[in-house]
Amino acid sequence: MNVKIFDTPDALGRALAVEFQEVLSQKKEKNQSLFVALSGGSTPKKFFEALAQLAQISPISWDAVHFFWGDERCVPPEDVESNFGMAKKILLDKIPIPSENIHRIRGEAEPEKERLRYQELIEKLLPKTLEGVPRFDWIFLGLGEDGHTASLFPNSEILRLKNSLVAVAKHPVSGQKRITLTLPVITKAAKITFLVTGKKKARLVQKIIERHPDTNSLPAALVNESAHSVEWYLDRDAGSYLKI
Ligand code: 6PG
Repeated sequence: MNVKIFDTPDALGRALAVEFQEVLSQKKEKNQSLFVALSGGSTPKKFFEALAQLAQISPISWDAVHFFWGDERCVPPEDVESNFGMAKKILLDKIPIPSENIHRIRGEAEPEKERLRYQELIEKLLPKTLEGVPRFDWIFLGLGEDGHTASLFPNSEILRLKNSLVAVAKHPVSGQKRITLTLPVITKAAKITFLVTGKKKARLVQKIIERHPDTNSLPAALVNESAHSVEWYLDRDAGSYLKI
């Protein structure tokens, strides 16, 4: 596990945009695509802004990038709640990525039908692990104050799924339906980056990174424990309880 702490959310976003460009150019050199699942919520905005700005000043091989989402709210893309809608406004509308490389979750569709469609798309497009599990090159994740990540909420039955790659979730407070990647596909990703900012999450970040027993069963902790390669990108506030 790798932890990087930056003075501000802007500095975090800029550093992650540079890392994204480096990882993509390594893939391009091998004539490979980069299969990415973006996170939702508000934290990724600084990263998306920085990536759009970087793309203005230095070449990025967008034709080699395939964007998916780690989760989506079951709302239309133009809804203010839409994770795709936010990424489209801040990043996708500003870069020359081929539209066929953008694989949004259709929040406006019937959830169970969309769960199946998205799962079949992932199975069709992604390279597989030796066990035959579709393998994302890079999954970006956020952290909720209750320890959720993507739309995997604490104590959810979805955390026990072993074969499904995609599930229909329900926000425990709002009841809003979500479509989310599940642990079996998230934990098989070649690289996972948690993006976390703000003081409110600092204690939870510390407990998860330091593996405190009272957070071990939280979804973000389960990912942190069982994934292949995890890095935490934190701003100073979110990392303020860490002893590094
Ligand atoms: C979502 C996200 C969710 C998010 C966390 C953090 O669809 O809401 O996938 O997991 O990353 O809730 O959200 P903020 O970045 O807004 O704090």
